[in-house]
Amino acid sequence: MLNTSSLSSILDVIQNKQLSISNRLGTYEKSNSLHPIFIQSDALYALKQIPDDCFDVCMTSPPYWSHREYSGLGIGLEDTYDEYIDNLIKILLEVKRVLKPTGSLWLNIGDTYINKHLIGIPWRVALRLADECGFILRNSVIWNKVKGAPDNSKDKLRCVHEHLFHFVKSKNYYYNVDAIRNSSRSAKVENGKVISATGVSGIKYRRQIELSTALTEIEKHNAFTSLENILNDVKEGRLSDFRMIIRGQQRITHSGGEKVSGRARELKERGFYFLKYHPKGAKPGDVWDILPEDTQKREGHYAAYPEDLCKVPILASCPENGIVLDPFCGTGSTMKVAKALGRKSLGIDICQDYIEMAEKRCGL
Ligand SMILES: C[S@@+](CC[C@H](N)C(=O)[O-])C[C@H]1O[C@@H](n2cnc3c(N)ncnc32)[C@H](O)[C@@H]1O
Repeated sequence: MLNTSSLSSILDVIQNKQLSISNRLGTYEKSNSLHPIFIQSDALYALKQIPDDCFDVCMTSPPYWSHREYSGLGIGLEDTYDEYIDNLIKILLEVKRVLKPTGSLWLNIGDTYINKHLIGIPWRVALRLADECGFILRNSVIWNKVKGAPDNSKDKLRCVHEHLFHFVKSKNYYYNVDAIRNSSRSAKVENGKVISATGVSGIKYRRQIELSTALTEIEKHNAFTSLENILNDVKEGRLSDFRMIIRGQQRITHSGGEKVSGRARELKERGFYFLKYHPKGAKPGDVWDILPEDTQKREGHYAAYPEDLCKVPILASCPENGIVLDPFCGTGSTMKVAKALGRKSLGIDICQDYIEMAEKRCGL
């Protein structure tokens, strides 16, 4: 355990901007400090000074091509989107090198129109990362901004989403699914009887099976046996809840085509199926409804992402003693969330003003 004076001397070392980045990072990794390290630099230059395999996760949002100028520095200002993508890929290749073999890259990236034509920049970058850089693409998350920005054009829809890609460096990547489950829906067990969160009890399902005119006698027998087994799973805590779908009873929400839906096939062949709820809660889906950050509060920076966007990436991809990287950290949203979740982090931004804002937000 570090005492207060050794901790403050470590803080001096890691915040000492005269020392080399790898020196600061090495001392930081060994310390108990959760204060982020911030580096004002071009991302490519800074990353090149960092040894291989240091970070557990990189959560980042580079400047979007030809959107805004920020400080007038860095990438996003290229004449063509091809040049922009080339420059971004160079940086993300360095990110890959500094990620541990178990590491992840979560990349939030926006699109641009030229002459009314939507370029498709997010997928152009994603496919290059997969095809040329050896990243494995695990998810393409749609960040639904719900409200989105005002759009006065009269010839297209309002855009309310952005992409967040999850890439991994190898197939044996770290992923803590239990850390990101939503709170579970649970059945109650009263006097030995299971009552699901929707209020349906085992008795009701038994009666539905008994009275069914759509099930054969054999199917009814099998349905009773399976129902008893699943009620036991709930009583003994292996499942938190379930729903039983019985042929001819409930309105079904999936397509009736057995070729496309395994459940539809199960319903046709067995007469019933179960929807099972995990005791630790449900896994989030790949569409996230998150309102954009209220940028009014951040003078001088207009592209901060919401803190909620960073939570799943950090919780899922960074172990508790791990370290998070954001090479385009802007006002430091990633670092702020990493610190709140008890993870170390390193942020890089080319603009000194943003670094100062980020340091302030993170209590430095
Ligand atoms: C989309 S903003 C990031 C916002 C950040 N996620 C936040 O919540 O505040 C992109 C940032 O990249 C920075 N930037 C642009 N080119 C850079 C480069 N070559 N190296 C490092 N930072 C760069 C910009 O200064 C800007 O702050």
